[in-house]
Amino acid sequence: MDEKFEIDATDVEQESSTFKEAARRSDALWADLPRDPARYRVLTGERPTGPLHVGHLFGTVANRVRIQELGATTFIVIADYQVLTDRDTADAVGANVHEAILDYLAAGLDPENGRTFFFSHSHVPELNQLLLPFMSLVTTAELDRNPTVKEEIRAAGLRQVNALMYTYPIHQAADILFCQGNVVPVGRDQLPHLELTRKIARRFNERFAPDAPVFPVPDALLSVLPVVLGTDGQKMSKSRGNTIMLKMTADETARAIKGARTDGDRQITYDPQRRPEVANLLRLVAICTGETPEAVAERIGDGGGGKLKAAVTEALNAYLAPIRDRRARYAGDPAYVRDVLRRGVARAREEAVTTLDRVRAAMNMDHGLQ
Ligand code: TRP
Repeated sequence: MDEKFEIDATDVEQESSTFKEAARRSDALWADLPRDPARYRVLTGERPTGPLHVGHLFGTVANRVRIQELGATTFIVIADYQVLTDRDTADAVGANVHEAILDYLAAGLDPENGRTFFFSHSHVPELNQLLLPFMSLVTTAELDRNPTVKEEIRAAGLRQVNALMYTYPIHQAADILFCQGNVVPVGRDQLPHLELTRKIARRFNERFAPDAPVFPVPDALLSVLPVVLGTDGQKMSKSRGNTIMLKMTADETARAIKGARTDGDRQITYDPQRRPEVANLLRLVAICTGETPEAVAERIGDGGGGKLKAAVTEALNAYLAPIRDRRARYAGDPAYVRDVLRRGVARAREEAVTTLDRVRAAMNMDHGLQ
């Protein structure tokens, strides 16, 4: 790996002070969102690299559904161009975009409410064009320093870094700012990108639009939900093969949970420090049934890993059943799924065209044509 992409102590220090500040602003946002949802424009999304699992469902997606219910307008980018940052094939992208929309619809994101929109990068050219002016606002040294990019390069084992990987945090700023997004629900790992987006918004306004700012300075909205781990007690991720996916059948779910790691102590207790795997399984049950993890542990008592796993399987399958039914119904209606995307793209383009017009005007590039 190129040594400039190695993670060092300064990264860690900087990360923790940024986190504290961002967490404070995120708390304030959580308090204000229900009071005044119309003030907020939410933008979030992910790369279409595979089907959603329950880690997503109980984390990011639950968060989104909650925000949607509060009444804010939400744009969800299915970041198809971003797939090519760490791999050189786009073979699976088409299917993955379709599956992602199925998963979101099944999980309760509802484009019929007129406030929730799905779109893909590839169909909103005016968003992508914002990349060019934004690139002029960022130094190559800032890109070199981004800890999330470094971590992704490491995780993907890349020996060479393509220019899309290098610049994607700027593209992500375009994702957020094209629709005047001011709230970005993300995990902690995405905070460096949000910091860059904030810088780009401020620098654009200062440099090109000092009298009439074009962009808001967005805030991260951090999840208040517990993190769900995979069946091996590690972060749930497809590449580790430790996931329970929304689209699995009840039997597949039972099998995945049978393989989950526990420990030798038959007395089940909720002890996240010393028994992280057991604690994770207890939390999974608790999320599904509305109990506390401690109460679940008590219920299982000295039944050991077997009884715990049976409880997880039952709770998850019951919780997921209606979601899976909905998913199957949408899967049977691909024309509807396409229509959801088409409507989301149309709305995103309206936003992007307006923003790009304002950007060109601010930059003395309308040339009398607007
Ligand atoms: N990089 C994000 C991830 O890997 C996905 C993403 C793309 C995103 N564009 C975004 C997230 C804009 C928030 C806002 O999860």
